[in-house]
Amino acid sequence: MVSPYTLPLFLVLSSYTQLVTGQAAAAAAYAPVVTTCPTTPLVRNAGTGSSQALSPSESVYISSRQSLILPGAWEAYLSNVQASLPGQNATSLPQYVSDILSGASNTSGYPTLGIATSGGGYRAAIVGAGILNALDGRNASSAAVGTGGVLQAASYLAGLSGGSWLVTSLAQADFPTIPDLVFGSPQVRGVGDFGGWLANISLEIPTNDTLIDLAYTSDLLTEVSGKLLAGFPVSFTDIWARVLSRHFVNGTSAAAFFDSSLEHGAGITFSSIANVSTFRSFLQPFPIITADTLSPYENTSTYFDGIDIFVPLTNPIYEFNVYEMGSFDPTLAAFTPMQYLGSTNELFCVTGFDQASFMMATSASIFNTFNLTVRSHVVCNSSLIEDFISLVEAHDQNGTLLEFIDTARVPNPFQGVAKETFIDTNATVLTLVDGGEDGLSVPLTPLLAKARGLDVLIAIDVDADTSDGWAAGSTLVATQQRSSYYPSAYPFPHVPASTDIFLAEGLALHPTFFGCNDSSTPFLIYFANGGPPLGQAPLTNTSADQVVYAADEIDGMLSQAFDIATQGIPLEVNGAPVKDLEWPACLACALVDRARSRAEIERAGVCVTCMERYCWS
Ligand SMILES: *[C@@H]1O[C@H](CO)[C@@H](O)[C@H](O)[C@H]1NC(C)=O
Ligand SMILES: *[C@@H]1O[C@H](CO)[C@@H](O)[C@H](O)[C@H]1NC(C)=O
Ligand SMILES: *[C@@H]1O[C@H](CO)[C@@H](O)[C@H](O)[C@H]1NC(C)=O
Ligand SMILES: *[C@@H]1O[C@H](CO)[C@@H](O)[C@H](O)[C@H]1NC(C)=O
Ligand SMILES: *[C@@H]1O[C@H](CO)[C@@H](O)[C@H](O)[C@H]1NC(C)=O
Ligand SMILES: *[C@@H]1O[C@H](CO)[C@@H](O)[C@H](O)[C@H]1NC(C)=O
Ligand SMILES: *[C@@H]1O[C@H](CO)[C@@H](O)[C@H](O)[C@H]1NC(C)=O
Ligand SMILES: *[C@@H]1O[C@H](CO)[C@@H](O)[C@H](O)[C@H]1NC(C)=O
Ligand SMILES: *[C@@H]1O[C@H](CO)[C@@H](O)[C@H](O)[C@H]1NC(C)=O
Ligand SMILES: *[C@@H]1O[C@H](CO)[C@@H](O)[C@H](O)[C@H]1NC(C)=O
Ligand SMILES: *[C@@H]1O[C@H](CO)[C@@H](O)[C@H](O)[C@H]1NC(C)=O
Ligand SMILES: *[C@@H]1O[C@H](CO)[C@@H](O)[C@H](O)[C@H]1NC(C)=O
Repeated sequence: MVSPYTLPLFLVLSSYTQLVTGQAAAAAAYAPVVTTCPTTPLVRNAGTGSSQALSPSESVYISSRQSLILPGAWEAYLSNVQASLPGQNATSLPQYVSDILSGASNTSGYPTLGIATSGGGYRAAIVGAGILNALDGRNASSAAVGTGGVLQAASYLAGLSGGSWLVTSLAQADFPTIPDLVFGSPQVRGVGDFGGWLANISLEIPTNDTLIDLAYTSDLLTEVSGKLLAGFPVSFTDIWARVLSRHFVNGTSAAAFFDSSLEHGAGITFSSIANVSTFRSFLQPFPIITADTLSPYENTSTYFDGIDIFVPLTNPIYEFNVYEMGSFDPTLAAFTPMQYLGSTNELFCVTGFDQASFMMATSASIFNTFNLTVRSHVVCNSSLIEDFISLVEAHDQNGTLLEFIDTARVPNPFQGVAKETFIDTNATVLTLVDGGEDGLSVPLTPLLAKARGLDVLIAIDVDADTSDGWAAGSTLVATQQRSSYYPSAYPFPHVPASTDIFLAEGLALHPTFFGCNDSSTPFLIYFANGGPPLGQAPLTNTSADQVVYAADEIDGMLSQAFDIATQGIPLEVNGAPVKDLEWPACLACALVDRARSRAEIERAGVCVTCMERYCWS
């Protein structure tokens, strides 16, 4: 589940007086600005059940991608699968798989695919990246083993917490390859370019040089002060946003990490991803990230029975996409334009609130789990934190909000909406937290929405369910339970009722398929970080608290994640691990299975044995 990152304790080293120095360009760029309101309404009713609808902009993006990009993408993936089969034997793949993926007219259309990648700090970002790399047709090894090309054929890519760092950085950096994303591209060196994750610089205390660290802290606070002084609620999440911005948003290189004159990604908004070249050409899966919410009116009898749970299952789950923020939960079923997030009525609108860094920090805002609200808590003994709280307090004039200084604070765009069912219909400010705090660590919720009509989902689970840091399916158990509250909004395949079953049956140790014989739900392909690849020493179960990674450590993790995604159910032959040579065919069988049943074609050939091997029932 959510695992607490160590607090940015370096904050206590600084002092409030440093606020006057530091940099101003980023502070201005991070502050929202008042603007004229759009001519369209600020709240869109998204409908429920079969009347659920997407935003017009998203519909255009998805249908353009479907008609212009996906036919070629599925075809390229199909050739990779065919070339990878044993003895180059393309005939072992049933005809219907090739027909569907090549768009033959006697099938009922292409599959629609969504990929969701979990939280779990940097560990989740790195392992998720490794699995996306194995699905990326641009990587020659991935193409050669027959899994490459799936990423290019996905309609959606969702991330949460650490997974939101991966998804957001990838989308805003113009969809580079995974090695270029993580380590920076040797080609780009401009000030506004993406410099890589810079994972060898800690998210906590960046150096052991007190003066440098003090100046850095001062910069972070200065950058948030612009938003505060412009009259917006701020919190620790904004400071966290400025930290994450230096790693996961354009505008910072290793050489310029401490350059106070740069904006370090301030001003790059989530909605501005719409202007990135690959997005304009429909070449990216549509990116979505999610967050949970806390509310004084929440139903405390709906907590998931798991570890590190802070949010009841029935609280709204919000999604942030390039065009909108809101929720398909039937209790709210409303969205607001992402570009105007921060606006609460049609007389006074703002832009620039939806900073990409702030949206990622919101998705990964776990400060509420540290009990920071208690003023006597150790960190509150620092004069800096005291001053920060006082500033927020003085600004807000609404004492009730003080206790939420440990959440991400977003002016509520949905005041007065869904009065009977929306718990925050009266709130002036939404208090958002890490998307995994309700137990749903893989952000499947937005991909289950009926309006999106997805056939097949890939869930990447890098959560730590066991004491030694491995996933054991708790997120699927929680998703199943939540979807039982909203069955008509979020149809979800039958999965085990407890992690005990995942552990007993080894369902997280290799890819597992769910919903194989229930075409009323999406087909679910589950990739879990449930243990090391067969015969290897574990590298991918690092703590979610680990906030600095050396390049060789990341290389090892990417390589193991590649094996996790490409080994299928491996066998041990003469003491050596052997990958399932049919796995690429099995993955293709799974990807087309809903399109197959739509066309009323029977499963055949290798797909029959694949389903026997990989389906849970
Ligand atoms: C090709 O596939 C067919 C049918 O599955 C099988 O009989 C044959 O042995 C395969 N040939 C090779 C070289 O793998
Ligand atoms: C679909 O049509 C193709 C020719 O376009 C044919 O080769 C194939 O056998 C047909 N498949 C099915 C399942 O009818
Ligand atoms: C980020 O930088 C990349 C080049 O590294 C560029 O292609 C992309 O458009 C930039 N994104 C934004 C939002 O400025
Ligand atoms: C991080 O890695 C970069 C690129 O390899 C290197 O230039 C820099 O010195 C490293 N920084 C630290 C703190 O290790
Ligand atoms: C700071 O010092 C600690 C303890 O000596 C060491 O483990 C860590 O690697 C150092 N960090 C940097 C960025 O040099
Ligand atoms: C995209 O760029 C255009 C032209 O620079 C600008 O007017 C528009 O506001 C941008 N859109 C977003 C969503 O940032
Ligand atoms: C809270 O949830 C429980 C369990 O689902 C339900 O029985 C109860 O009616 C809910 N209470 C409110 C106020 O919605
Ligand atoms: C937070 O405080 C509450 C009440 O003071 C306590 O029950 C809970 O265990 C604390 N949580 C943590 C993570 O310290
Ligand atoms: C915070 O400071 C007060 C007064 O200086 C002291 O009594 C208290 O023990 C400190 N709290 C912690 C947790 O250190
Ligand atoms: C907080 O602000 C809201 C909206 O202005 C107001 O209705 C509410 O009474 C305030 N709460 C307190 C405790 O002042
Ligand atoms: C919202 O406020 C109205 C009017 O004060 C009240 O009747 C209603 O119960 C409140 N709803 C919630 C969910 O707090
Ligand atoms: C492809 O992925 C493998 C496995 O992670 C990696 O070693 C290799 O560098 C990647 N190649 C490219 C061109 O990205």
